[in-house]
Amino acid sequence: MIMVSQLLWNCIKKTALGLVVFFTYSAFVYGADEQFKIGQEKAKVCMTCHGADGIAHIDAYPNLRGQNKGYLISSLKSYQARERSGGLAVLMQQQADALSDQDIEDIAHFYSTLGKSSHP
Ligand code: HEC
Repeated sequence: MIMVSQLLWNCIKKTALGLVVFFTYSAFVYGADEQFKIGQEKAKVCMTCHGADGIAHIDAYPNLRGQNKGYLISSLKSYQARERSGGLAVLMQQQADALSDQDIEDIAHFYSTLGKSSHP
């Protein structure tokens, strides 16, 4: 009888420990993603055209949700350098001019993470 209750107790202890580890880990993973929140805040101005969830509702505007980070960074720098021009690019040149390198980094982190498993 003692054996059984001891086994049961060990089992409860292990489950409890597992839960504590699980919740601490999730809190860490979500809490640690400060840059996502910073990028989201900075991207407010972008959402008018590219959608609150990174999906543009105007057909001529591109979706940014889940786009590769390196591509986002290089395209924003290309707008700043006027290497992307013509068509609707002039709209983006103005937008990109207002961004610092750090803004680009944070916003690119936000859009590239959006739609991935950590931020579905
Ligand atoms: C006034 C509407 C508008 C706003 C605001 C706007 N964009 Fe854009 N964005 C566009 C349009 C239109 C294009 C397509 C331009 C082109 O043809 O090169 C574009 C293109 C882009 C691209 C290139 C996408 C690709 O697939 O090549 C990126 C990256 C981008 N925008 C990021 C941003 C970010 C970041 C912000 C906020 C700082 C922002 N945009 C704000 C309209 C806008």
